[in-house]
Amino acid sequence: MIVLGIETSCDETSVSIVKKSKNDEKGNILSECTLSQIKKHKKYGGVVPELASREHSKTIDKLVKKTIQSSSISINEIDAVAATTGPGLLGALLIGTNYAKAMSLALSKPFISVNHLQGHVLAPRISQNINFPYLCLLVSGGHCQILLAKSFKKFEIIGETLDDSVGEVYDKISIMLGLSYPGGPIIEKLAKKSLGEFKFNLPKPLYKEKNLNFSFSGLKTSIRRIIDKGLNDNQKYDLANEFQNVIADCLLSKVEMSIKRLGKKKIKDFVLSGGVASNEFIRKKFKKLCEKNQLSFFVPEKKLCVDNASMIAWAGIEIIQKQKCHSKIHLPPDPRWRIDKL
Ligand code: KG4
Ligand code: ZN
Repeated sequence: MIVLGIETSCDETSVSIVKKSKNDEKGNILSECTLSQIKKHKKYGGVVPELASREHSKTIDKLVKKTIQSSSISINEIDAVAATTGPGLLGALLIGTNYAKAMSLALSKPFISVNHLQGHVLAPRISQNINFPYLCLLVSGGHCQILLAKSFKKFEIIGETLDDSVGEVYDKISIMLGLSYPGGPIIEKLAKKSLGEFKFNLPKPLYKEKNLNFSFSGLKTSIRRIIDKGLNDNQKYDLANEFQNVIADCLLSKVEMSIKRLGKKKIKDFVLSGGVASNEFIRKKFKKLCEKNQLSFFVPEKKLCVDNASMIAWAGIEIIQKQKCHSKIHLPPDPRWRIDKL
């Protein structure tokens, strides 16, 4: 089974070809080409939707050709074409989806509609044996959800943010500090320089509440007030460090609560996924949490944490192999497609 995947939900144009052999549980990425638009959006401090659509339409065709050329397979060997059809920016989704649909019609091969979040949650299964049901914390620029992955297409949201996502807060704090976009890797670097001299007593929103939800907008406002007073470099490092600790504490406490509620009989594996999962500090904290709770810890390799088409092609493989009627070629992309409504 060879699937070509296309991802254009936000600011990365990505194309990938993934192969899965019949008797193998895992997949093999034959080639992946990703073009980040970060440079184009940087000066605006975030993604500009219209600019994103224009860039996707400029590059998608070249990228598909390049991916096929570097995969050592011919276009006729592709068994299906998968694309992210939501959630994401509508204009951006339309470029990838329409390209994939046209390709599927031209090749007379099935078109597979993939939910972007489903791609993130299934991503580590490309290279690791993870059994359903498993618990997953999805932390990206657009989402922060605790999920119970019951099968390749059944996901229950058991907790989520009531306002901002974690990635969004990282990005906004970076801009508040006069730094660049995306903020995640920048704040992570700053925090590493901290000597722990200054304390800011940042709030931990909903930390003590018994529900499984998060809220990060109040934390962002507190940090804005601190930054507005003016900070020297050492204070900036310490603020970044304290911020990461607060974020990790909030995430860890709710995930641990979820583990306790589900019980060890129900789940044995935990997956950390999404762009924020590429953060070393957060990865280490969750590894420890899993050891403490006797769960196996899985996280995709860093390039599969941030947006990429390999996770879309892989989800396409899981769908086509297990779901009889998967064709949604007649449906337009859905910018607000929820993972629990597949
Ligand atoms: O999954 P992703 O690539 O796109 C969405 O689906 O949203 O996630 C992007 C987010 C951005 O907010 C970015 O700042 C964050 O992931 N991110 C990180 C790191 N690398 C990327 N956050 C924290 N630490 C990182 N190292
Ligand atoms: Zn994503």
